[in-house]
Amino acid sequence: MRLGGMGMAPELMVLDSEAEVAMAVARRLAATVAQMPTAVLGLATGGTPMPIYKALIALAAEKRLSFRMVRSFNLDEYVGLSASHPASFAHFMRENLFDHIDIDLARARVPNGVAADLGAEAASYERAIAEAGGIGLQILGIGANGHIGFNEPGSAFNSRTRVVDLAEATRQANSSYFPAGESVPGQALTMGIGTILNAREIVLAATGAHKAPAIAATLAGPITIDCPASALRLHARVTIICDRAAAAQLP
Ligand code: F6R
Repeated sequence: MRLGGMGMAPELMVLDSEAEVAMAVARRLAATVAQMPTAVLGLATGGTPMPIYKALIALAAEKRLSFRMVRSFNLDEYVGLSASHPASFAHFMRENLFDHIDIDLARARVPNGVAADLGAEAASYERAIAEAGGIGLQILGIGANGHIGFNEPGSAFNSRTRVVDLAEATRQANSSYFPAGESVPGQALTMGIGTILNAREIVLAATGAHKAPAIAATLAGPITIDCPASALRLHARVTIICDRAAAAQLP
């Protein structure tokens, strides 16, 4: 189904359950790597990708899929958290994916949230993506406020990797991943919306009723910086895969 007025109208798949969404996205990732063992993947963290990576690990084992030559770039990382912090996205990726497939950790990059010079880290991240030939397939989740990566509402559509302030709602939504008593950092390093739109193909996954307003705004609202994910309608190859609950407010 294709929705939306102006823009290019992403392809929309509405599936029955979170498990089906996870399997569909995992299959896309597996097919990309099977077709191109040197694929460059853009990866996301959070609750939505957890079952996706679980399904991908199973598919990789079943199909004897090798990630040895794959390169990956994660969307974001908290400023101030090192890779050993249990709530860091670098830690999340090892625990939920990298430790269970044969990817070369030297080829799997997550922004360094404890770099002495964060501006230089952001510039080097952009350079590394370009030197890898650009991202072939970018996986995205979506915030309840419509953010992609940590590009909160108000982010420019041509923004690049940079330090951003996290919205209070985002810090709250992610607080459950932090040890009790520890507060969520106020800033993150994130790929920009412009960086994301440079990917050749983008798959956004959304599950749960709390994502329904954001999915409706993304696909059927105006294309505006107030809903960062609406920028995806400016890209020619986007698939949005959601469960019924996340699709419930679409017209
Ligand atoms: C994660 C990221 C975020 C999440 C979004 C949804 O790397 O960049 O945009 O995709 O916050 O998170 P979950 O899936 O936890 O609801």
